[in-house]
Amino acid sequence: METMFPGMAALQNNIHPLLIHFPIAFFLGALAMEGLAVLRDEKFHLVATWMLYLGTLSGLVALPTGFIAANLVAATDPRGHNAPGHDFIHIHRNWMVATTALGVLLTGYLIWINKKGKWASHRWGFLLGLVVLSALVALGADRGGRLVFEFGTGVNPAVIKAAFQESGEDHGNEHRSDGGKPI
Ligand code: HEM
Repeated sequence: METMFPGMAALQNNIHPLLIHFPIAFFLGALAMEGLAVLRDEKFHLVATWMLYLGTLSGLVALPTGFIAANLVAATDPRGHNAPGHDFIHIHRNWMVATTALGVLLTGYLIWINKKGKWASHRWGFLLGLVVLSALVALGADRGGRLVFEFGTGVNPAVIKAAFQESGEDHGNEHRSDGGKPI
């Protein structure tokens, strides 16, 4: 494992980063395909349908791995819940729970539309739902990226400690221009 997949081995049981790209790609793909269906050709609606199904399914799989990641992060970082940026995990969690919940609702709506053959009269409403879903997943994923790339959440604490000792100065929340307030 270490030789073939050193990147995966470094995750140390945290499979969250392996799964998160699927809901993001499928939700955004569903919007693009439904946009084409409404503006160009109805046949793209079938592609959008499957992308939304797969996006919701992969979102439901990714969601619990996020909670596991949050617990692993707190357990493996000696700073635990006081680690810089820990509050931001809750912000990211809220965005992603809302995203997945909307994905489930929209999937139910889509099943109803397709079953009743009501796409023509509901296509704009469905498209609007996908716009909102895509905005939510983009904003929530951004908060996830922020955890990793701004605060180093999930990064091996020993690496961060070594970098901190080498630089000899603290780059924590108190030096942030916004005071480290969760947004
Ligand atoms: C559909 C659901 C979710 C998606 C699509 C998602 C997406 C992301 C993304 C894009 C990142 C940045 C990773 C990177 O750039 O390498 C991330 C990191 C993270 N997310 Fe999520 N997330 C989801 C649910 C959750 C939930 C419910 C939690 C629970 C609190 C959570 C906790 C974390 C943590 C702790 C990180 C930091 C990196 C790590 O330890 O894996 N996520 N997530």
